[in-house]
Amino acid sequence: MNEQHREGESLIFGRRTTTPTPAPAARLVGLGSYLPPQKVSNADLALRLDTTDEWIRTRIGIAQRHIADPATATSDLAVEAGLRAMKSAQVEHVDAVILATATPDHHVPGTAPLVAHLLGLRHVPAFDLGAGCSGFVYATTVAAGLIQARTASTVLVIGAEKMSAVIDPDDRSTAPIFGDGAGAVVLTAGHADEPGTLGPAAWGSDGEHADAIYIPDGGSRRPPCATDDLKNRYVHMEGNEVFRHAVRRIAHVTQESAAAAGWSIQDIDKLIVHQANARISAAVANTLGIPPQRVPSNITHVGNTSAASIPLLLSHSAIDKQLEARQRVLVTSFGAGFTWAATTLLWPSGLQALN
Ligand code: COA
Repeated sequence: MNEQHREGESLIFGRRTTTPTPAPAARLVGLGSYLPPQKVSNADLALRLDTTDEWIRTRIGIAQRHIADPATATSDLAVEAGLRAMKSAQVEHVDAVILATATPDHHVPGTAPLVAHLLGLRHVPAFDLGAGCSGFVYATTVAAGLIQARTASTVLVIGAEKMSAVIDPDDRSTAPIFGDGAGAVVLTAGHADEPGTLGPAAWGSDGEHADAIYIPDGGSRRPPCATDDLKNRYVHMEGNEVFRHAVRRIAHVTQESAAAAGWSIQDIDKLIVHQANARISAAVANTLGIPPQRVPSNITHVGNTSAASIPLLLSHSAIDKQLEARQRVLVTSFGAGFTWAATTLLWPSGLQALN
């Protein structure tokens, strides 16, 4: 147990370090992911939806998605990914846990404290962050800020979703897209010039499009009531509008992030794009002039896992050896809100991702 972490005490890490310079930077030292075992193929979906395997493959790029069983909640997926990331980082303790999710176990309380408890992290600060499919990159940005401010020296950032809990199984415009899963990273204080260190983040939002992807009922705007149309407890999405904005915003935030790191677009060795739709990733790569072989993808096998998408793709790409030491990696995302966020890093050597 961390010596500062005693029963009943709050953690005040700002007191720990007195050296004024240089400010620490957030360095990636652990990476893990988890997919629930059950796979649902397009053929399975076509048994109950008016759709075909061919339509889903060509319009979205997905062949299957993983779906959690009814007894499994987002916290269970998050714990599995968190365990793997901490094992990968070879740490038994972190100073804070941030859980990016749009599908918390409950409205109240946040899910992160339960996840921290289940990971044996006792009384560390833990909170949820909701920024749709951009949630994971938002969360790493917040974690990097905590590390730079010396509020924490090691942070576990998890993206976890049980999307199947909020997707209408009878809606052919959403059911083929989304899947369940979780991914996580451990970030720790390092020096800005070390490989693995996160570059500056570019991020933003536009609430004018708040209803382009949303769940109409069940929140404070329209609290749950006995006469509700249950369809309004599920995600509603304007697919075409989302598609258009996603391509434009991801391309733009990618350029901003590259510029902030002092990179040109041609400098990017691997572009890790939120796995929303294979055609969105292809359109972004085409807009930016990045060859497809520099844009890894796992959407065919996992679908769109919202806030879990980026750490799942990082983990799968690392295991597939598509991410190699010292490659320039740019991570970029877009989601409900709308929100968008991107950051950069030089891929570290010796990082063992665990699935
Ligand atoms: N199977 C078969 N046909 C389908 C279908 C399905 N699952 N879903 C829609 N269709 C039909 C539509 O009814 C429409 O038929 P019509 O021409 O007879 O009216 C036709 O296919 C085209 O529909 P459209 O909505 O224009 O398709 P699209 O090519 O835009 O693809 C999405 C729809 C949802 C796949 C696409 O818009 C998309 O991926 N949007 C972004 C979604 C996203 O990424 N969300 C998460 C963001 S983080």
